[in-house]
Amino acid sequence: MKLPYAESYKIKMVEPIRKSTETERKTWIKDARYNLFNLKSEQVFVDLLTDSGTGAMSDRQWSAMMLGDESYAGASSYFKLKEAIRDLLGFEYFLPTHQGRAAENVLFSVLVKEGDVIPGNAHFDTTKGHIEFRKATAVDCTINDAFETTKDHPFKGNVDLQKLKTVLKDTPRDKIPFIILTITCNSSGGQPVSMENIKAVSKLAKDHNIPLLFDSARFAENAYFIKIREEGYEDKSIREIVKEIFSHADAMTMSSKKDAIVNMGGFIGFRSEDLFKKASVYNILFEGYITYGGMSGRDMNALAQGLYEGTEFAYLESRVGQVAYLGQLLLEYGVPVQFPFGGHAIFVDAIRFLPQVPKEQYIAQTLAVELYIEAGVRGVEIGTLLADRDPITRENRFPKMELLRLAIPRRTYTNNHIAYVAAALKNVYDRRDKITEGLRIMNEAPIMRHFTVELEKAE
Ligand code: F0G
Repeated sequence: MKLPYAESYKIKMVEPIRKSTETERKTWIKDARYNLFNLKSEQVFVDLLTDSGTGAMSDRQWSAMMLGDESYAGASSYFKLKEAIRDLLGFEYFLPTHQGRAAENVLFSVLVKEGDVIPGNAHFDTTKGHIEFRKATAVDCTINDAFETTKDHPFKGNVDLQKLKTVLKDTPRDKIPFIILTITCNSSGGQPVSMENIKAVSKLAKDHNIPLLFDSARFAENAYFIKIREEGYEDKSIREIVKEIFSHADAMTMSSKKDAIVNMGGFIGFRSEDLFKKASVYNILFEGYITYGGMSGRDMNALAQGLYEGTEFAYLESRVGQVAYLGQLLLEYGVPVQFPFGGHAIFVDAIRFLPQVPKEQYIAQTLAVELYIEAGVRGVEIGTLLADRDPITRENRFPKMELLRLAIPRRTYTNNHIAYVAAALKNVYDRRDKITEGLRIMNEAPIMRHFTVELEKAE
């Protein structure tokens, strides 16, 4: 018998969580204006809002924290992190930042100007936010297959080379500061980009003399998918694949809260000393001195250790395996989910789940609210609320997909929690015909509204 995957760690410390009643949850979610970000964490039983900064650190990470060097300049923790980034990712220069979007802010302050065009694969919302905030445009060149949740494709994060070529042809060279590849592609379902596609995009970028950037939050999960799905990589180690991925990058931004398994942190990796020096100015202005950039020494130590743990095959196998376990249960229950399963989350296709709810009434948010009421499980909407309004017309942008993302924190929940979530969603699915009413916006922010939006039931 083939042995199943099993976690490459065991539990040393636990945190109690509490179940609530349906009556309590109905009151809480109404008071939270039907925005799950407004709930208190104690009002949530299984929290799948995000896999960002919610993972459990290892005993080695916690012990590394005790050795943190809190010197303002030149701390040993900085050099430890610098060495881990050089060793694992191959970047000579780096800047620490307090999280991923801060890395984007610093780097884009150097590179992005008004009127620029930045092609990529379904830019993450903070990436797009930092581009649009600078009055530039993000152009999504993801393959069309990514938008069909039932279509099987091993690398739904891939860039459609024809779409990219069209952008490169139609846009003056000086208006494209870089191409950005998000690995794995969060917005299209935690879907990986193949090495073949990375190479092809890299070649196009080189031919046009355009730098290639990686938004690398889940780079290790992407490497894992390359290893198990792409021909020629089955015998390579995760770290060899990671090195090969980044050999194509001119620079990278990192949200360490994902694949580096820390609760807070980020960084920018650079190949060019010149770009590093230019970005250093903004790092000092926005984040802190270049040897700590918004992170404490102890956090840099934990991050350096986390980069090693996050790139171990056994860990990644159990991580991605747990996500697939949830996906498999939901498939068995007939719940429509994005297929194949992504690296960090299962994405439920809310349009197929609730076809009777009009798109103007925020279908995926409606489903997220129903799942919370059912069982105290918190997911997140990846749909019209997240897509925001068009910055020029101020009209709602209706994305091709309305998804409820169930993001699995790293090393945090057991498979019993996962089975609980799947059963909860099945119960909602069984009563889906009775959910006819969506939601309406009462208040919203001008940009990145989903975090703070206030909603009420649409009549
Ligand atoms: N890039 C990607 C692909 C991300 O998924 C995120 C964050 C960021 C950049 C920004 O990083 O949060 O450290 O500032 N994603 C989180 C999520 C918020 O829930 O998917 P950050």
